[in-house]
Amino acid sequence: MKNIIISSEKDYFKKYKKSVTEPEEFWETIASQFDWKKKWSKTLEWDFNTPSVKWFLNGKLNITENCLDRHLKDFGNKTAILWEPNNPGETAKHISYKELHREVCKFANVLKNNNIKKGDRVCLYMPMIPQLAIAMLACARIGAIHSVVFAGFSSKAIEGRINDALCKMLITTNEMFRGAKTIGLKAICDEALKNCPTVKKVIVFNRTQTPVAMNPKRDVFWSEEIENASSDCPAEIMDSEDPLFILYTSGSTGTPKGMVHSTGGYMVGSTYTFLNVFQYRTNDIYWCTADIGWITGHSYIIYGPLCAGATTVLFEGVPSYPDYGRFWQLIEKHKVNQFYTAPTAIRALEKQPISFVEKYDLSSIKVLGTVGEPINNEAWQWYHKYIGKEKTPIVDTWWQTETGAIMISSLAGITPEKPTFATLPLPGVQPVLLDDNKKEIVGNPAEGRLAIAFPWPSMARTIWNNHKRFKEVYFSTFEGYYFTGDGALRDEKGNYRITGRVDDIVIVSGHNLGTAPIENTIDEHPKVVECAVIGFPHEIKGNALYAFATLYHQEDASEQLKIEINNLIAKEIGVIYKLDKIQFVNGLPKTRSGKIMRRILRKIASGETTDLGDTSTLLNPQIVEEIIKNKI
Ligand code: WT7
Repeated sequence: MKNIIISSEKDYFKKYKKSVTEPEEFWETIASQFDWKKKWSKTLEWDFNTPSVKWFLNGKLNITENCLDRHLKDFGNKTAILWEPNNPGETAKHISYKELHREVCKFANVLKNNNIKKGDRVCLYMPMIPQLAIAMLACARIGAIHSVVFAGFSSKAIEGRINDALCKMLITTNEMFRGAKTIGLKAICDEALKNCPTVKKVIVFNRTQTPVAMNPKRDVFWSEEIENASSDCPAEIMDSEDPLFILYTSGSTGTPKGMVHSTGGYMVGSTYTFLNVFQYRTNDIYWCTADIGWITGHSYIIYGPLCAGATTVLFEGVPSYPDYGRFWQLIEKHKVNQFYTAPTAIRALEKQPISFVEKYDLSSIKVLGTVGEPINNEAWQWYHKYIGKEKTPIVDTWWQTETGAIMISSLAGITPEKPTFATLPLPGVQPVLLDDNKKEIVGNPAEGRLAIAFPWPSMARTIWNNHKRFKEVYFSTFEGYYFTGDGALRDEKGNYRITGRVDDIVIVSGHNLGTAPIENTIDEHPKVVECAVIGFPHEIKGNALYAFATLYHQEDASEQLKIEINNLIAKEIGVIYKLDKIQFVNGLPKTRSGKIMRRILRKIASGETTDLGDTSTLLNPQIVEEIIKNKI
């Protein structure tokens, strides 16, 4: 993979220039570092209006041969996955490339034995254990499309995602650990499966000793299925453009969007960015703390690191268990070299006594990373000072579920960093800022909406079953561009700082949440007339959710009702959507056309009530004062 690495700042500018003037040649050099069963016949075909993007056309490959088989000859005994369990008393597991290859092949045969074929969708609802990685790779081995659903989502959320993709199988565990708690995943699945007629098989891995109810017609145990499975499983030949996986992300309206990622382009993009941003070297131990249920886990725990032949840490637990020193203890224990986490985790850990950090030797750290939302200066400075000891590079990586791989970031130790700025685009990425007249803003400094002018290999190809929505959401706001939904500014040197979403998506603790489905859920409560949900700044979570709701009967307003509303949200869409604040109001500020003015509510919630703009044109201007007066 030597030709992939950008080795100096000069090299960065040279490669960046080449990637703009000769994008196809640029990506060909990178793609040719991988194992293809048949080389592609055309590098790129694209049109952002349809939209249609294809990379490495007619190329044939299997991503698991690049993640596994390719490494066996030279370093089969190297640790591929270093698994650290939730409970500090349980022994960590070092799974070599050879072992992982064997387990993946065996489980791929289990899938086949259970009637899973190329193109079938398989839903994975699992904790952070090696079996999740094995199940994903086993799907990829035989060309089945995995759809990982974060194991914090509700049964309703699983149901919706399974029925959208018409999954034939669900893989889960009896229970999962989360800090001191155990959570019954299988029971949550059983609830969901009452309404999922396409699921014919459920494979259950026993993570704990607790027995769970099994449906004899449908449910089988992982351990029993794997017993007699052969470890010989030739990789299915996939087309470069065949879907590798679906991953759902929130939309600002309606149901979650099943982003579809390709096989060839995604492999090239995730691996190229992994190696360059983190500057991974052969014997490094790399740790990304994200959950595999999000894109960060797909690209930077599984596919990118494994294709690069890295040792990737998989941590089952949480940063606060058994105490707030867990991350730092694990860095010392496993001599972690690259550590990649989220601003919300940094802010939570920053609030704890510094002795939790100082107890441990963090000298192995060479690179720190952050992802998920804009990092505030205070958190950046703390990370830099206490974890990076004022010398370790920090990569602030901007990207999205839709982009598949990091788009804007410094390259650790190679290109300069700037606190709170994601900095420069990776070679191969062409960001632009657009103004309200949909024109590209040239020159610096500048501020506008962030869009991408040219395709890149790891971009999502469509929304599962809804190409029309794919076009509407990403390619219609600014014709001829991919629109990110983010606002950004650019300094004199061209460094980007992402300022946040410009749509109705709120990022809470790094989770990208659409407010519309939350509003719909609250509205379902029989006592609620209507509501508006907005985000407001929160010290640890970055943003938290605030709901304003009107009731049929004012006298129903009570703390009990607030609990009921939050329970309803937890049940319908998941605990991560719970509200921090609920204010019962006599009316919501609306335009004369009836549109709720969330902008005003956002200002009220964040305490910026001096400049609410002109409220006199509202349908009900008097309501604003009342809401301010009763603000929580
Ligand atoms: C949104 C995408 C990509 C992995 C995790 C989130 C925000 C992400 C940064 C960053 C500022 C960031 C953006 C983006 N975001 N990284 N480094 N600086 N903002 O994936 O759930 O698809 O969310 O997260 O608003 O649009 P996602």
